[in-house]
Amino acid sequence: MNLLLYGAPGSGKGTQANMLRTHFGIPHIATGDMLRAEIATGTELGRKAQPILAAGQYVSDDIMIGMIRNRMARPDCEPGFIIDGFPRTVPQANALDTLMVELRKRFDRVVYLKVDVDELLRRLSGRLVCPVCQRTYPPATEACVVDASRLVQREDDKPEAVRPRIEIYLEKTVPVLDHYRAAGLVSEIDGRGTIEEISREVLAAATSSPLARKSRPKAGEGAGADPAPTQTANR
Ligand code: AP5
Ligand code: MG
Repeated sequence: MNLLLYGAPGSGKGTQANMLRTHFGIPHIATGDMLRAEIATGTELGRKAQPILAAGQYVSDDIMIGMIRNRMARPDCEPGFIIDGFPRTVPQANALDTLMVELRKRFDRVVYLKVDVDELLRRLSGRLVCPVCQRTYPPATEACVVDASRLVQREDDKPEAVRPRIEIYLEKTVPVLDHYRAAGLVSEIDGRGTIEEISREVLAAATSSPLARKSRPKAGEGAGADPAPTQTANR
């Protein structure tokens, strides 16, 4: 199962990727999480990326393509993967096409979570994250359910970064959707509704591909029998 989650900042990609990761037992490759890990550990890339993320801008295509290439070469991706946050530009989409051919893989589905701008602003302004494990939580949650850390606001969820993030998404990332629509891969999901309601639609879309249907586990078998996610930990 090879899935790509597409949507604006705050559309619920991380939330739904967490559900899919548990359901299918495949890795969640989130370029934003990878960059935040570089920042947290103080690598050279992290030092370069920190002000770019804080301003709501995009890290360069070369860096991002190199990062995804290295990650997808790892053996845990062999049974499948869920990509979240890449590609964000048309050159990144073209590079990913080339990489998929090299790896002899193809996407089963591109799941587009469509959410209007007012709702995106509402979600991002209230989102909380665990500074230790990066799990995402809805507003008013007090502590991380996994490590009890006090939750914080993500640096790029501060008001001065949120608008630029949405603007660059509209300018550079919306054209990426046409790239996948042309390939007939896109399932568009109305992102309004509870997390559980959206999860049901995402799962239905993910398993709607003819390829996915062939390899789908039978009821009670392996990861396919997993229950729906909870609202508390979204990552
Ligand atoms: P990244 O971390 O990918 O951020 P993003 O795309 O802006 O998306 P978010 O993580 O903010 O939102 P999400 O869609 O995951 O929503 P979530 O599930 O958390 O990237 C960060 C930065 O890294 C970029 O700005 C850029 O600088 C850089 N970067 C990364 N990849 C790059 C690339 N390829 N090229 C260049 N630069 C790159 O949900 C949000 C909130 O809503 C949560 O509180 C959640 O609980 C809540 N929620 C979710 N679903 C629902 C629902 N159905 N109803 C109500 N609330 C909900
Ligand atoms: Mg995310």
